[in-house]
This record gives sequence, structure tokens and C-alpha cells, in this order.
Amino acid sequence: MQQSHLDDLFAFIRFPSVSTEPRHKDDVAACAAWLAGKLTAIGLQAQIHATPGHPIVTARNVHKPGRKTVMIYGHYDVQPVDPVNEWTNPPFEPVVRDGVIYARGSTDNKGQILGHVLGVGETVKEKGDVPVNLIFLIEGEEEVGSKNLEAFLTANRDLLKCDIIAISDTGMVARDTPTFTYGLRGIAAMELRVSGPSTDLHSGIYGGAVMNPATAIARIVASLHGPDGRVAVPGFYDDVVDLQTWEREAWQKLPFGDREIQSVTGVPELFGEAGYSNVERTWARPTAEVNGIWGGFQGTGSKTVIPREAFAKLTFRLVPNQRPADVMAKVRAHLEKHTPPGIRLEITVGHSGEPYATDPHSDFGKAAQRALATAFPGRELALIREGGSIPIVNTFKRVLGVETLLLGLALPDCRAHAPDENFPVENFVAGIRLNRALLEELAK
Ligand code: BES
Ligand code: MN
Repeated sequence: MQQSHLDDLFAFIRFPSVSTEPRHKDDVAACAAWLAGKLTAIGLQAQIHATPGHPIVTARNVHKPGRKTVMIYGHYDVQPVDPVNEWTNPPFEPVVRDGVIYARGSTDNKGQILGHVLGVGETVKEKGDVPVNLIFLIEGEEEVGSKNLEAFLTANRDLLKCDIIAISDTGMVARDTPTFTYGLRGIAAMELRVSGPSTDLHSGIYGGAVMNPATAIARIVASLHGPDGRVAVPGFYDDVVDLQTWEREAWQKLPFGDREIQSVTGVPELFGEAGYSNVERTWARPTAEVNGIWGGFQGTGSKTVIPREAFAKLTFRLVPNQRPADVMAKVRAHLEKHTPPGIRLEITVGHSGEPYATDPHSDFGKAAQRALATAFPGRELALIREGGSIPIVNTFKRVLGVETLLLGLALPDCRAHAPDENFPVENFVAGIRLNRALLEELAK
């Protein structure tokens, strides 16, 4: 690999483009400007589109009639670096240790989307053009639910007209194992606030006479699951499509399962919905997760207080054919029913995205798999679904009427969203290789 490719990635990573944090707004914009500059430098026509949130970057070659039009989607925003003191190196100062790049965004998604950009750059340099009509669509709000992208798609339907979409923002089941992902879970997010007394209270003077909001939030959160790991919200599983027999059989043979999940997560024992393997639980079954819960005194030592309020942040991962709005309504009814007496519950609905599934054996699906075979010669291909969400993928289908191919390069231990996020240099290089093979196969 050229040193300049790694220099480009490091420059891209150094922007702390954390989309959820208002203090990083200018950093996100600067990152978009850098990216547009890079896309221009490789010979494409790039544009930055302002939105009510963070900008969207697009780029295209000169489109010619008679060629397939391929859109490559990715995101340049990243998750917060919190807890920052658990990083070995500062999160926005990328380093290579033992062939692995460590930094926030290295895997999710800067290393992967830049692989496509640099792949196109190499092809253009060598051959003058790529073999397809190309559209890059790279947004800055994926990690906050792609709030402004749907309106952009609707307003620019003609500009974004394409035959197929490709994304590298998913995983590989193991090192050097080409992986084609044909399904993603959807997501529905909400925040809970419970309140009781009009002010914090002395827990000696009033303890016993009022319901404690911290106890209430714990009870409400605990009501989400049964002891068998199933979500206890009535009707939650109504629209869930059962796993197919072929998937269950194929997934058992993958070089990824309980042992790998246990080792990466470091838990003493795996736990989940009864009746399913752990890959089935994460890829094809819906869940309820508590992402945060707080209230009351968090400082050192003891403080005898009854807090006047307490909070929780929840997300639900959804599978075909669950609908975020329907699930939210069922959850709301359930939570209201489980709110203890003496407590007010406020629910703020957050972002959501629909689950996605595509036919892995479509013509484009097969082309993508041939490209993976070219990029990873002699290696057996894994056909999987994934537990993560890319909210816009189902919207692409609904608004543009186009299917998406998911060809990700993240490893199970990439630590996406966590301290010491990392991406092997080898995967970065594979991504550049994969781009070329992909565009050649999709052009056929
Ligand atoms: N790249 C991930 C999605 C992903 C991760 C897909 C692992 C497959 C396997 C993406 O950047 C992401 O993290 N999405 C968020 C979306 C949410 C914030 C709306 C997610 O899944 O939590
Ligand atoms: Mn992510």
C-alpha cells in the first residue's frame, strides 16, 4: 500500500467528527470539507450539501448512457469517545500498533468508506474512469439516526437515481473471511424520565412515605424482560419473521460463534433469549437494551437523598417485519402499565430505522459475492445477517426503490463505539482492492 493512503486515512480520522455533540459541529463541517476536497482530488465532481444538521457530501464521475449506476454510501461522523481515559492512545491521534490502526472512526466508518474513495482514485488514475456511473453519498449523521437524509433523498431523487447501492459499514465474521451481509436489524430509540417529589428529599425524613424515582426507573426497566431473556412487552414478537432453516444451518458452520462472542465481550457467561444460538440472537431476533440509566447521587461517599427524578435511555433492535412506530406504541403502553404509583413517566421518542433484508442470490448479490471472492482469493465466503443498524438502508429501498449490498470489513474485535476502536491495515488495503473488484463486477 502507498504511504499516502495511510496519510489520507490519518488526516480523515484526525477530525473529531462526533455528530451527537454540539461542541463538535465545526469539526464535523471541517471533516466534510476535507472529504469533498479528497473526492475532487481523485477526479470526481464533489459537492457539500448543507442540511438542518450536519452536511451531506456527494461526488460523481461523468455519467455515460448504457452503464450501470452504482451508489456507494458511507458516513464520516463518529460516535463519542467516552470513556476517554480507557483509550490506550488519544482517540483522534491515530497510531499503528502491530499492523492495526487504533482511533475513533478507524473501522466505523472512515477506514471503510475511504477504502472506496481511494479504490476509485486508483482506478481513475490508471484507466481514466471507473467502469460504472458512480455516485458517492457520504453523510455526517448516521450515528444519530440519519435524521436529515430522507428529506435529501426525496428532494434529489433524480440526482441519486441508481441501479444498486453498496455499503461497507458492516462486519467480517473473522480475519481474512469475505463476508456478505444480507440483513440488518432496525432500531427504535426512546428516553424515559420519571419524577415524583417536587424537589430532592431527605431520605430519613420522607423515606417510606413516597415512591423513590430511582427505584421506579429500576422497576420499569426490569419489566422489559422475562427471566428467559425474552422481551416481556405484549405483542413485541407479533410481526417477527422466523429464521429460515438454511440460515440456521449455514450459521452453525461459520468460523464465528459462542467462543468468539464470549472472548470478544469478556463476559463470564453468554445470556439471551431461550431457544436461539448467540448469532441467531444477535442477527435475527429483536431485543430491548438499556443504554443508560441514572438518577440520584453519583459522587463519592454517601448522600441520604431521595432524588426527585431518574432517567433511562432505551433502544430496541428490530427484525423483519417489525415496524418502529408499532413497537414504540406497544412499549409505551407496557411502560405506562409498569409505572409504580406516585410516579410520573415521560417518554421522549428518539430516532428509528426499519430492519432490512435482501435476497443474497439476486444478480447484484451474486456480483458482490464474486467481487468478495476476487478480493479474498481462495477464502470461503460467509453469508450472514448482522445485529447493527444502518437506518437509511430501508429508506433507500422505500424512497429510491433500490436494493443495498453490504460488504463490510469490520472485525468482531474492532471495538466500534468503544475505547481502542481499531482497523487492521490489512483490512484497509482489502477495502481498496474490494472497491475495484466490486465496480468491475457490478458493471457486467
Ligand atoms: N456500522 C454500524 C452498523 C453496524 C454495526 C452494522 C455492526 C452491522 C454490524 C453503524 O455505524 C452504527 O453503529 N449504527 C448505529 C445506528 C444508530 C445509532 C441509529 C447502531 O447500529 O447503533
Ligand atoms: Mn457506528
